[in-house]
Amino acid sequence: MENLVLYEKVGVIGVLKINRPKAFNALSREVVDLIDEKLEIIKADEEVRALIVTSDGNFAAGADIVAMVELGPEEASKFLFSDTFNKLENLGIPTIAAICGYALGGGLELALTCDFRIASEDAKVGLPEITLGIMPGAGGTVRLPRLIGEAKAKEMIMLGGQIKADEALRIGLVSKVVPKEELFDEAMKLAEKLAARPKLALKAAKKSINNGREQANAIQREADIWSGLFATQDQKEGMRAFVDKRKPQYVGK
Ligand code: CAA
Repeated sequence: MENLVLYEKVGVIGVLKINRPKAFNALSREVVDLIDEKLEIIKADEEVRALIVTSDGNFAAGADIVAMVELGPEEASKFLFSDTFNKLENLGIPTIAAICGYALGGGLELALTCDFRIASEDAKVGLPEITLGIMPGAGGTVRLPRLIGEAKAKEMIMLGGQIKADEALRIGLVSKVVPKEELFDEAMKLAEKLAARPKLALKAAKKSINNGREQANAIQREADIWSGLFATQDQKEGMRAFVDKRKPQYVGK
């Protein structure tokens, strides 16, 4: 069977790669469970001093729409990735998302759990869930406004458009943009710099910054609101339309 998530260590740097190129690295429950397994390995490995999260081609085109179409609210709640994403966010080492191609929906939400985001020039990021009759459910409505401000986050979430790498840099969604062929080396350079900092102080600084967010309740409430949308006709229509490659017809129910 295809190895959907790859993990290797390059010296003291962990490199986690989503490997489902045919579906633009869409996040199925299986992919997220595998990410979770790798995170447990990383957590237990004292040697790993920083983590790069990346993919080849496209970072990730969001949660797997095909798998979500027919879900009801309870199943949607179980499908959701918040626990794994919270685990990544709270890892005791610095994390870097190296983003190329599309980082959409749950894909961008994955990148938002990392401490740093570097993009290649071809990157396109967005939270298009609204165009599917739902909203972001894996931290997007909580983490994005904190990062880029409410007005811009509302524009991205409520209009559901994509933005290019240079605009993502301008609004502070990513901290650097580099040519695609330099993306991994650039992430590695930053990871090595971070790995050279004192481990305990680094962990404490990250923990203290993350503590200031006090967002656990907001993330849980977001998940509840998100799952509730799976009782609507618009969610079914939006996702069926994506699968059928047609425009959705929303009825507001
Ligand atoms: N889920 C499942 N399959 C997906 C997918 C996704 N999120 N994104 C892409 N794919 C699949 C397509 O179905 C297609 O498969 P087939 O070849 O079998 O038809 C293949 O990947 C290539 O996609 P396209 O033919 O659409 O390629 P494109 O170049 O025209 O467009 C794209 C690329 C802009 C990424 C487009 O595929 C797209 O818009 N994808 C969906 C993005 C999205 O809406 N993400 C949010 C998902 S919901 C979510 O993430 C919820 C949450 O908050 C947790």
